[in-house]
Amino acid sequence: MGSDKIVLSYSGGLDTTVAIRWLTERYNAEVITVTVDVGQPEDFKALEERAKAAGAVKHYLVDAKAEFAERFIAPAVKMNALYEDVYPLSTALARPLIAEKVVEVAKKEGTNMIAHGSTSKGNDQVRFDLAIMTLMPDATIIAPARIWKMTREDEIAYARQRGIPIKAESSKFSIDENLWGRSIEGDVISDPSIEVPEEAFEWTRRRNQGKAVVEVEFESGVPVSVNGKRMNLVDLVKFLNEYLGSYGFGRVEHLENRVVGFKSREVYEAPAALALIYSHKDLEKTVYTPRELRFKRLMDQEWADLVYQGLWFEPLREEIQKLGDEMNRWVSGTVRFEVDGSGFRILGRRSPYSPFSEKIASYNKGWYPSDEQARGFIEIWGMHSLLANRVRR
Ligand code: ARG
Repeated sequence: MGSDKIVLSYSGGLDTTVAIRWLTERYNAEVITVTVDVGQPEDFKALEERAKAAGAVKHYLVDAKAEFAERFIAPAVKMNALYEDVYPLSTALARPLIAEKVVEVAKKEGTNMIAHGSTSKGNDQVRFDLAIMTLMPDATIIAPARIWKMTREDEIAYARQRGIPIKAESSKFSIDENLWGRSIEGDVISDPSIEVPEEAFEWTRRRNQGKAVVEVEFESGVPVSVNGKRMNLVDLVKFLNEYLGSYGFGRVEHLENRVVGFKSREVYEAPAALALIYSHKDLEKTVYTPRELRFKRLMDQEWADLVYQGLWFEPLREEIQKLGDEMNRWVSGTVRFEVDGSGFRILGRRSPYSPFSEKIASYNKGWYPSDEQARGFIEIWGMHSLLANRVRR
């Protein structure tokens, strides 16, 4: 009988690096670290060395970029996923996938003890805990940062005392990055009344003046090519992040309503996510009947709320998704847009499934209702209001 095994979701940052040693000591356990690659820019070799140096007995690196794109980003585009109309859910979408991979490793390692680095103030703990509880109902979940009473300074001191290597750089902000976006919070950003300093941003530092014009093609709601060049979704998103970000486009400023009961100032960089969702929304408007469009907006909002609130596995999320997929069968075509600085403008769109008819809409030629048709339509259309006004005025 060896000691217990704990599988830790490892980001490589200060909290989870300290957690390796803390878990080992407190539970007399062997700690196995799992890092899931969802497109965060990270030196995974250095990260593994750090985990081992901190005391991890084994380390897993899981490349989940393609799965993240196909199973999470594609649906998010189809559902125009913007929490409170602005946040493309980059962090929120990755959590259930990370939890899934960590649970897979735990099963493989024959343990039900799973640890993650979330604190008791954030949304991420809700997403991790609920995903793990769904996928492994008998899991014992340990969130060291909810238990220890260490401040950031305490953690650094703890690491120094024990000779645990920590990441040299270490921004003063709390950062979470993946393919779909970069979340920035903490430090001076926490004061919602002041402007976020330029140093907080990385993806959207403006390196190119002027404008970028881009044409994106969608097939059944999913982006498949940029400026006529077909790309897989991972490369397409990477390309748009770099290209549009270089023009300074992609920042989100948000005073956000967290799941855990309070408002928090958060900023994001998500050039690809914003451009793709704005374009996709435009294409939906091009294709859908007005009834479909209005109903889809309600579905979109509910879907984004569920994902934000840690309810990826809520049946309603999947059910809404199914109808969303069905409706997106028709969302094919191209959208052309331009960005400069923070500005985004649609330039034009085209879809073989658009009911738009030049002949019907044009003021110059083609179809015109007769005077009689127009009068009849207007009178019957307005009849409810006309009758109500007659009795009330
Ligand atoms: N507020 C965002 C969310 O709940 C971003 C969280 C960022 N997480 C982090 N560890 N910095 O999705």
